Amino acid sequence: MFRKLALTALTAFALAGTPALAAGEGGHVENIRFSFDGPFGTFDQNQLQRGLQVYTEVCAACHGLRYVPIRTLSDEDGPGIPPDQVRAYIEQNFIEVWDEDLRDYRAATPEDNFPENTAAGAPDLSMMAKARLGFHGPWGTGLNSLVNGIGGPEYIAALLSGYNGHDEEMAGTFLYGNDVFPGGLISMAPPLWEDGVEYNDGTSASVEQQAEDVAAFLMWAAEPQMMARKRMGFTAVILLILLSTLLYLTNKRLWAPVKRAAKES
Ligand code: HEC
Repeated sequence: MFRKLALTALTAFALAGTPALAAGEGGHVENIRFSFDGPFGTFDQNQLQRGLQVYTEVCAACHGLRYVPIRTLSDEDGPGIPPDQVRAYIEQNFIEVWDEDLRDYRAATPEDNFPENTAAGAPDLSMMAKARLGFHGPWGTGLNSLVNGIGGPEYIAALLSGYNGHDEEMAGTFLYGNDVFPGGLISMAPPLWEDGVEYNDGTSASVEQQAEDVAAFLMWAAEPQMMARKRMGFTAVILLILLSTLLYLTNKRLWAPVKRAAKES
């Protein structure tokens, strides 16, 4: 019985070492100390707002974000943009969505989701930060995830700044050399340029900075409830500690007379 259990545990351990998207196929992904890492980490609202700007001005040209409701931009745990500014954001960026009833495009409202975008054959980014794992170690235990997160945003940031210029044309398609993308060639042209966006909080817009900001924004998009989940986990741990202490004391008290009797006899 014990041997069987131990074997199962060992197999599980070994299997855990195979990441969903084998990071080994692509290049090495460095850990980034994001503000939301670790059990007490929270999203940095300024960073999420900068990430939204990069997404809107750069990525949205090819990518969609179809599962993310625009109104959630006001979430306190997220970008925290006041509702009137969210409406202004929609207007200023001429965000339109397809309306099934009208059978036409119309201006988006905060209740709509971000538009989808399939024109360029680019994948939707709603869940991308969770669909891609940057790292899994040490030794495939997944322990990294507890401290540093799953590495999804790290993968995105590394991908965006991982272009190496070894481009190739293959069967009429132009492919761009990228150290991080599995296979080394990606059909996405390098989307970020130094100062390609102008941040209004004074942050200097290097490629790395933009990549980190948009990666943080995409992590929020994929897991908007992360803060609530962490708070709940923390409450659960406190309750468990309390319960264990009570149980321990009750146990002591229940057995005290028996112990005393045993000592006296
Ligand atoms: C000119 C169009 C275009 C722009 C702009 C663009 N992308 Fe892409 N992106 C693509 C295409 C096409 C693919 C599919 C690439 C492939 O599979 O070879 C892709 C793939 C991706 C992937 C998935 C990579 C993987 O592991 O499968 C991510 C993540 C991504 N883009 C993020 C972004 C971000 C973030 C931005 C904005 C900074 C952005 N993209 C801007 C066209 C674009």
